[in-house]
Amino acid sequence: KMADHLRRLETMFTLTPQRMRMIVEAFKDALEIGLAKPGQVVPMIPTYVFGWPSGKESGNYLAVDLGGTNLRVCLVTLQGGGKWEITQTKYRLTEEQKHDEGQLLFDFCAECLKTFVESSIESGQIQRGATLPLGFTFSYPCSQDKIDHGVLIRWTKGFGAPNTEGHDVVEMFKRSLEKHSVPAEIVALTCDTTGTLIASHYVNPTTKIACIFGTGCNAAYMERASDIPKISSLGIDPQDEIAINCEWGAFDSFEHEHLPRTKYDTIIDEASNKPGEQAFEKLISGRYLGEILRLIICELIDEGVLFLGQNTYKIEIPYSFDTAFLSLMESDPTDELLMIIGIFSHFFALETTLAERQFFRALAKLVGRRAARLSACGIAAIVSKMNYLEEGCAVGADGSLYNKYPGFADRIHEGLVDIFGEKGRNITTYHAEDGSGIGSAIVAAMTKNRKEASI
Ligand code: BG6
Ligand code: GLC
Repeated sequence: KMADHLRRLETMFTLTPQRMRMIVEAFKDALEIGLAKPGQVVPMIPTYVFGWPSGKESGNYLAVDLGGTNLRVCLVTLQGGGKWEITQTKYRLTEEQKHDEGQLLFDFCAECLKTFVESSIESGQIQRGATLPLGFTFSYPCSQDKIDHGVLIRWTKGFGAPNTEGHDVVEMFKRSLEKHSVPAEIVALTCDTTGTLIASHYVNPTTKIACIFGTGCNAAYMERASDIPKISSLGIDPQDEIAINCEWGAFDSFEHEHLPRTKYDTIIDEASNKPGEQAFEKLISGRYLGEILRLIICELIDEGVLFLGQNTYKIEIPYSFDTAFLSLMESDPTDELLMIIGIFSHFFALETTLAERQFFRALAKLVGRRAARLSACGIAAIVSKMNYLEEGCAVGADGSLYNKYPGFADRIHEGLVDIFGEKGRNITTYHAEDGSGIGSAIVAAMTKNRKEASI
């Protein structure tokens, strides 16, 4: 019986090369429309980061990274020549903080930064009395009309702090920095993808695209100003290049015309705090993969296929099945699948048979593989739009899913070959180093240099 279920689920979760190519075409159109007109589903945000770093950027910078799971505060010393040093402190954000009043979230960032700066003064890394330039990595869609300004379009990744959407988050953070007398001046607002793009290019100049596969999923790349019709009236030199934060997680939102959503994806969407939104991200990113698997398991519990006679209340709690479990399940090296025994008994008080464990592992593979193949579709859309296929390009990638999920990168690469044939091998992803810390500091340095050059 379990074999029948597996076959049914395989059909639901498998993406043929033909289907992938159709998604790529629709994706390309969405990217073009986003560049043509403001306020589109895939917003294609001009970041006001003009061109690539020279590699000579230098100096001391603070970086604050408000991501999907952690808050990090960093001190980055850029040494030029693609080298740097970094010290940092990481804090885990609570679910309450994500939904508490927005200003309180920025107050928390300011408090953490203050503690960090004070201890850096004590250790002699920062001079007392100095005001350091600060790069603020805020990885949510913000529309920008300059580099040190950004209005939050909408929260993603399960955040919902009130009185923040529609507000300038730089202004809000500034207010908190002033309130807590933190000696830092925000010079640039970036997204983790933009930071990753710039940081990867700093060390590997063949990089043309950056992706994050973590709690959320998104990409950035460098576009010609002349190919961004929606900014044509702003007086930007058409020869300039400008980094675009795609916010591609929003692809196919609302209309749901292109992506192969299963009933489990629909349940996740409808139960989320943002129904209809981030349709692409909800099929791919680390925030949701564990939940997809959990919903499949719960359906089979209801049908009496799994765990008969056992108390299943723990696994019935929404979001109780962490995406990290999928990674562990796929990488379990033992014949008995001991890791999977451990996960189910320790976290859910459930006993499993070997056949069930093999089934769960196969399910994890289906969900993880679909995520990677859809990710390949997004990359292929940018590659194809920018004509990067012939000359090839490197894609800097980061995030917990990319870094920790076994085989995720290989599956993306297989997907690219399915889409483009052998030429797909010209596109390779690699692990990029800390875009939100280093990248944000480099963007801050580029902004300072640009300002000084224009004075
Ligand atoms: C980190 C990157 O590895 O991954 C950050 O350095 C990025 O730039 C983060 O924001 C995203 O992953 P996650 O899993 O924390 O959302
Ligand atoms: C979400 C955010 C986006 C971010 C991504 C990865 O999609 O909207 O800004 O880059 O997650 O963290």
